[in-house]
Amino acid sequence: MAEPLGIALLGCGTVGSGVAHLLLNHAERMTRRAGRPVWLKHVVVRDPAKQRDCELPPGVLTTDLDKVLGDPDVDVVVELAGGTTWARQAALAALATGRDLVTANKALLARHGTEIFAAAHQRGRAVAFEAAVAGGIPIIGAISQGLAGNQISSVQGILNGTCNFILTAMTERGSDYAGTLAEAQRLGYAEADPTLDVDGSDAAHKLAVLVRLAFGMAVSPDDIDRRGIAEIAAIDIRYAVELGYVIKLLAEAWSDGESVALHVSPTLVRKGTPLAETRDAFNAVKVTGDAAGETLFSGAGAGMMPTASAVVADIIDLATGRAQLMFAAQRLWQTDAGQLTVRRSDEVLSRFYLRLTVADRPGVLAEVATLLAMEGISIASVIQHEAPEDAPGQSVVLVAMTHTAKTGRFRAALARINQSDNVREPGVYYPVAD
Ligand SMILES: NC(=O)c1ccc[n+]([C@@H]2O[C@H](COP(=O)([O-])OP(=O)(O)OC[C@H]3O[C@@H](n4cnc5c(N)ncnc54)[C@H](OP(=O)(O)O)[C@@H]3O)[C@@H](O)[C@H]2O)c1
Repeated sequence: MAEPLGIALLGCGTVGSGVAHLLLNHAERMTRRAGRPVWLKHVVVRDPAKQRDCELPPGVLTTDLDKVLGDPDVDVVVELAGGTTWARQAALAALATGRDLVTANKALLARHGTEIFAAAHQRGRAVAFEAAVAGGIPIIGAISQGLAGNQISSVQGILNGTCNFILTAMTERGSDYAGTLAEAQRLGYAEADPTLDVDGSDAAHKLAVLVRLAFGMAVSPDDIDRRGIAEIAAIDIRYAVELGYVIKLLAEAWSDGESVALHVSPTLVRKGTPLAETRDAFNAVKVTGDAAGETLFSGAGAGMMPTASAVVADIIDLATGRAQLMFAAQRLWQTDAGQLTVRRSDEVLSRFYLRLTVADRPGVLAEVATLLAMEGISIASVIQHEAPEDAPGQSVVLVAMTHTAKTGRFRAALARINQSDNVREPGVYYPVAD
């Protein structure tokens, strides 16, 4: 029998417990798939007294990272601590001492990916990170291996399960944002502090990781335009449904071969399409390549066992040597940043949904149409329900769907529309993905 592969887990929370469970309770399966025993030697945590969701053998749990890195039996360090401070130091220390690294940490890779990949390359080690994007969905392997023969032109994803759960509940049950967020927290779908989820940052981190693989481009998450879901009003969800759409938080990147446009934004997605039908806490990613055409990957994007599934796949790939070959071939420490540029969001082409609260008087629709036309934008459809009979001369809601326009020109038109005496409050708009 080949030498065992020694594993040190950094972190034994949600994901770490799932990984420990698979390694300890399915050891025979691991040995068969890895071609050698996989030996969980150490688990590093902050508080050894804390109750864990898995049973660890005596002597495995420790708070001493230096002792763990001094153990010659450790071949692979699996970072499941989260954050970008201790996790970064620990990951770099693991690589510096000649260990391969597995991480589920999208924030770490989005912010410090180039540094970590370069440190691994310098030491002849590998980094594997299937769990960093979309949990149990093998999207990293799909883009870097299964679709390797393609020139990828776009990646569109529902990458945050918390947001998708909230938007699904708001759409299907008519619940409001605050109540649904509280329910998501009660059910364990949302963190006590959900800021990074609901403001689009988590999806931006994941998009940065996917863009590096799909387009060979290192983009800082700070350069990704983002809008979150907290601002979405129930009325816009209802109008979207009336128009045949649902609102999803999409992370999207498009390349024309010279530049990449990317953003995270609530977006109207046509009902019946696979992304629109991705409900609750599920994730989905659509990748379009010149040879394969459109491909869609969907499944559980987070949670203990789905995420552990991806982490363990990386451990097995390191045991067999597949991950080392992939990492060497991908050259992620080098980026084509000089060749591909980030396109300003003003240049992105989209249709738009626009909701205005306007005075209920003649000529208002014509004025809005004229102000859009001044930027070369035409209206595709309009909804305006009659004002209640007992409230003549009051405000009414006017919803317009535009034809395709540059985002910058749409925003310029909206700025003029908002200045009109007929417009009661700033217009609300979202892009539309058909
Ligand atoms: N949860 C998911 O569904 C999911 C899905 C995909 C990716 N991820 C990523 O996976 C990583 C882990 O997430 P999680 O949900 O498992 O986190 P978690 O439940 O908060 O667990 C974090 C673990 O790391 C340990 N830890 C944190 N800082 C430490 C330090 N300075 N020294 C030693 N140990 C430390 C904690 O120790 P104590 O237990 O002693 O506090 C805890 O065991 C994150 O990068 C996350 O983004 C999570």
